Order: sequence, then C-alpha cells, then structure tokens
Amino acid sequence: MKNKSSQKENGKKEPFPNPSEKTAIVIGATGLVGYQLVQLLLTNSSFRKVKVFARRTLSISSPKLEAHIVDFEEIDSWKEALTGDVLFSAMGTTRRKAGSKQAQFRIDHYYQHACAKAAAENGVPVLVLVSSVGANSKSRLFYPRIKGLLEKDVCELPFQHAVIIRPGPLYGPRPEKRTGEVLGMMFVRLMNRFGIMKRYRPIHGSEVAKAMIRSISVLTRRKMVWSDLDLFELARQRDAG
Ligand SMILES: NC(=O)c1ccc[n+]([C@@H]2O[C@H](COP(=O)([O-])OP(=O)(O)OC[C@H]3O[C@@H](n4cnc5c(N)ncnc54)[C@H](OP(=O)(O)O)[C@@H]3O)[C@@H](O)[C@H]2O)c1
Repeated sequence: MKNKSSQKENGKKEPFPNPSEKTAIVIGATGLVGYQLVQLLLTNSSFRKVKVFARRTLSISSPKLEAHIVDFEEIDSWKEALTGDVLFSAMGTTRRKAGSKQAQFRIDHYYQHACAKAAAENGVPVLVLVSSVGANSKSRLFYPRIKGLLEKDVCELPFQHAVIIRPGPLYGPRPEKRTGEVLGMMFVRLMNRFGIMKRYRPIHGSEVAKAMIRSISVLTRRKMVWSDLDLFELARQRDAG
C-alpha cells in the first residue's frame, strides 16, 4: 500500500501523514548500528511498527516488531513488503567477510540500492542511509567509491527526503574481531589528540543509531548529509521523535 503525504498550508509536502504513528523499515538490523537502532525504535513512542528485513533471526521480541527473514538475492519476491514511513539502511560488510570486491559491492551497493528503489517505488517518503566518512563516487579507493556511488544512486530515487549519515570508524560490541579497524581507530584517536583527522573521529554505534532517528526531525532539505561534528551534535540532541 502506498503512503499518501499530506500537504502543508505553504505547499510543502509533509513526509509523514501521521507523525506519531510511523512505521520504520530496517535493513542491516543485526549489525552494530542496526541492532542499536532497532532497540531505540522499539522504545520510541512515535513509531508504532518496526519492520525488519534480515537474513537471520533477531534476538529481540516486541509486539511492535515485524521480522521478515529474507534472501537479498531474491528481493523481487518480497519487495512489495517494503512499505512504511522511513527506510533505515545500515547494511554493509568488509572485503574480508564478503570474500571479494565484487561480493562486497553486491552487499554494500546492490542490496541496499535495490531495497531503497523498491521502497521509493512503494511510496516510502524518507530514506536514512548509513554511509561513511570520505564517501566519494570518484575516489580511486574502493571503499569510499562504493559508498559514494551508493549515496549518488539512492539520491536519484524518488524519495521526498534522503538522509545520508557519514560516520567515521565505528566502535561498540561486535561478535567478531576486526583487528585492522581497531588499529586504525587507535591511530585516529592519537591523531585527534593533536587536533588532526578530526572528521575521522571514532563514533559508537549507538550514537549513529540515535542520530539516524533524530535526523528525521530535521528534514529541511531533500538531501541532508550529516558528518563530522554535526553528526555528534545530532546524536546528542534531545529526542524530538
Ligand atoms: N566499521 C566501520 O568502522 C564503519 C565506518 C563507517 C561506516 N561504516 C558503515 O556503516 C554501516 C553499518 O556498519 P556496522 O558496523 O553497523 O555493520 P555490521 O555490524 O558489519 O552489520 C552489517 C549488517 O549488514 C548485514 N549483511 C552483511 N552481509 C549481508 C548479506 N550478504 N545479506 C544480508 N545482510 C547482510 C549484516 O547481517 P548479518 O548479521 O546477517 O551478517 C548486518 O545486519 C555499514 O554500511 C558500514 O559500511 C562502517
């Protein structure tokens, strides 16, 4: 079913027909950011339903949670279920986990873009995407390039608002060890002490999750990008729903 957006008196479209009864859609819900996000959404009174699409079960139960176990290779068979008010996308992998650059591209770009496209076509008005600091579709480096390409491609989809969150290195509880990331974070923290590499300052997964939810209270432009200090400030703002 498609959302109908109400019209403000000044002619601007309101993205949410019923702001206190929103339905969230989450992909990447079993990850560091996504798991924190789902927990916050389930306790946020302005969301009445949280639809999760994942390849495995989420160890959370709530009457607000609607969990779909799906195969992202078969999105055409379930994409009609991608309906609601906001699509939150926190999916991603590492080259090591994916096994190759091609496989990483499939997860970091194709799966997320396919979900965003289906959601936009189903009338979901708002996308909130976790990208990365340094995202740049023209970068010679693979990771910032795929993040930049995804940003560019989702912004061309017919959402009323596309919110891009660009965190630096993420920390928080993970089931697996990511030694490279941990060493990188130690280096960045050292540099930060000297006032260098501030935009790469590490951020906790829960802070990113908070910022994702708060970002939908400040939809002043069609494309909104949150990074650097603004992202930390957004995460610390009082929850406006
Ligand atoms: N790590 C960093 O320091 C860093 C920095 C900046 C930005 N980012 C980006 O921020 C976002 C969130 O990062 P995160 O650390 O929270 O991610 P994460 O913990 O690695 O979680 C990734 C999510 O994507 C899902 N996923 C991975 N491969 C999949 C597949 N083949 N099919 C279906 N689902 C799949 C995972 O599901 P399973 O649990 O089933 O695997 C999980 O829900 C990602 O886009 C990441 O690239 C990361």
